[in-house]
Amino acid sequence: IGDNIGLTPALGWNSWNAWGLSVNDEKVRTSAREMAERLSSHGWAYVNIDDGWEAEDRGVNGKIVTNSKFPNMKGLTDFVHGLGLRMGIYSSPGTRTCGGYLGSWQHEDDDAQSYADWGIDYLKYDWCSYGQIAPQNPNLDEMKKPYIVMRKSLDKTNRDILFSYCQYGMGDVWKWGAEAGGNSWRTTGDITDTWQSMSGIGFNQDSAAPFAGPGHFNDPDMLVVGKVGWGPSLHNTRLTFDEQYTHISLWSLLASPLLIGCDMGNLDPFTLSLLTNDEVLAIDQDALAKSACQYAKKDNTQIWVKEMKDGSKAIGLFNTSDKYQTLSLSANDPAIKGYTKFRDVWRQQNIPAVSGKVAPHGVLLVRVSK
Ligand code: GLA
Repeated sequence: IGDNIGLTPALGWNSWNAWGLSVNDEKVRTSAREMAERLSSHGWAYVNIDDGWEAEDRGVNGKIVTNSKFPNMKGLTDFVHGLGLRMGIYSSPGTRTCGGYLGSWQHEDDDAQSYADWGIDYLKYDWCSYGQIAPQNPNLDEMKKPYIVMRKSLDKTNRDILFSYCQYGMGDVWKWGAEAGGNSWRTTGDITDTWQSMSGIGFNQDSAAPFAGPGHFNDPDMLVVGKVGWGPSLHNTRLTFDEQYTHISLWSLLASPLLIGCDMGNLDPFTLSLLTNDEVLAIDQDALAKSACQYAKKDNTQIWVKEMKDGSKAIGLFNTSDKYQTLSLSANDPAIKGYTKFRDVWRQQNIPAVSGKVAPHGVLLVRVSK
């Protein structure tokens, strides 16, 4: 149990960036319906409840129970499964989650079993108040401990549950996340919907890159496209269209889990097109499961290269400046020497050379093959 699942990064939705702690059963059902109708044929599958579903106190025998926003978790999970999708949930190894709800501290077996009984397929496990239980400045073993404990509890259940670590990159988690049983691990603090936040995270993943592989991925946090707001302040993402192309391109190059963080009931045509470009998603989902590495960095440009299973490469040429630029790789450049076919994957068109005029904060995303 727990092996050989999640061999490519998870594709799904998570409630946090849209709804924060105001997530409820109805919002999750809406997301699931929309995903089934508009996204699942492109590979999107997980419907993940983040923080905010737990009751104030445990029930009989120490079992975790839901609060009034989630009257029937098993019923909700059945509904999501009935649409052909998978269901995710959230907890913390501490006494409290980051939002102050009940955590799994000293109830790991109970909670893992409840998740399995409900039919949960994915657990995000968020350090949060465990910081008060762990020693100050925890060493590596102390950092790994709560994740290993929950991994064991999950393994005792008779269910495959994808395990996503969330501890903000502490202790260079990418170096030990796989060995400690994680399918993915957050490499950073929380993202928000600004260029500064998204690009600051996305372009700083190079040291984690070598540690991605089948079944274990770096997670630079969830997507900030569409309508986001963390609860009360739902608004269109403040990223420009070109910044959103950069966001999805970079996360796909990084073989990151792609977790849509928006109000799924209000998917506009642009956001839908961003999330349903199969040639872009194929870069994220490639079976080799390698992350792109930073190939070149200049003041106003970055180039990231990802090796693909079929011997092709996916290459992102990013314009990090606020003016238009023509970005190119010459035919002799070591990154593409010997490669003769070039395809602009956003536009789904073959192009004569790896070269294009790129908008401010935008990207030319190319797949090159021999
Ligand atoms: C932390 C995590 C977020 C989210 C919230 C929930 O901040 O990093 O992704 O899960 O907790 O409270």
